[in-house]
Amino acid sequence: MMNAAGLFDIQGQNAIVTGAANGIGRAMAEVLLANGANVTLVDLDRSVLALAQALDGSPGRAQGVVADVADAAQLTEAMARAYGWQGRMDIVCANAGKGAGAGPLNPAGALAAVSPQEWTGIVELNLTSVFNTIQMAASYMRPQKSGRIIVTSSVAGLRGETMVGYAYAATKAATANLVRQAAIELSRDNVLINAIAPGPIRTNIGNGRMHDGTVEEAFAGRVPLGRIGEPEEIKGVTMLLASAASSYITGAVIPIDGGCNACG
Ligand SMILES: NC(=O)c1ccc[n+]([C@@H]2O[C@H](COP(=O)([O-])OP(=O)(O)OC[C@H]3O[C@@H](n4cnc5c(N)ncnc54)[C@H](O)[C@@H]3O)[C@@H](O)[C@H]2O)c1
Repeated sequence: MMNAAGLFDIQGQNAIVTGAANGIGRAMAEVLLANGANVTLVDLDRSVLALAQALDGSPGRAQGVVADVADAAQLTEAMARAYGWQGRMDIVCANAGKGAGAGPLNPAGALAAVSPQEWTGIVELNLTSVFNTIQMAASYMRPQKSGRIIVTSSVAGLRGETMVGYAYAATKAATANLVRQAAIELSRDNVLINAIAPGPIRTNIGNGRMHDGTVEEAFAGRVPLGRIGEPEEIKGVTMLLASAASSYITGAVIPIDGGCNACG
């Protein structure tokens, strides 16, 4: 019988996390490192370099890469750096993403206010870069006959949501079904792909609006647990989906949302 340490053992595995300089991606990188994986932290924000240096040896090894994952060439280069480190690709967290401004009941977020540029920018990052990350991850993992891909979707992709913009809700729903679709194919090679669907989490998303007391209260009032979540609270499911503990889970979209998903 495997104990919890054995079930969740990821020692020495090679991982990459996009959007790792802040918030949810940082929490994912921290927990993988704390459990002995070696992690390439990728971010547009140059602070990822200092963060990787600070986390290196805790006890996993960390390297930072500055890249815009919405640029396919930069993403390819970052993935190659991660793979080249150990000649393997075990865990890929396709996490980088951004908010799309106000929700549909706010004039600034209404249908008529969404510009083609805004729409395209969100689709390129929140959906196309996730597809590209999955495609590249699969090309490394399939020959190994193993691998774990974790996509950060959102509870706003599981139902309508007054507090987020159109492009956000649409792209997050698309990533959830992208994960289900890819699970069908990648299962053949023992590559497991799942999504997390966070509810409101205290990060820098939306220009830091989750740190604003009024916005926080508005979100918290709609969460059965009565509060917004902390990035730390993403760590448990990250470990589940990265490890042998989830060996029979693929194509799942797991809410981490204080119960929002249960009551709409
Ligand atoms: N915070 C929430 O309430 C919440 C809820 C559901 C889903 N999410 C999702 O979680 C993911 C992480 O967001 P967060 O809340 O931690 O926000 P965050 O802004 O704190 O962190 C996002 C990180 O991604 C990086 N990033 C943005 N664009 C990038 C690009 N083009 N290339 C590389 N890196 C880029 C940012 O620099 C930042 O470090 C996103 O996909 C977001 O949609 C967040």
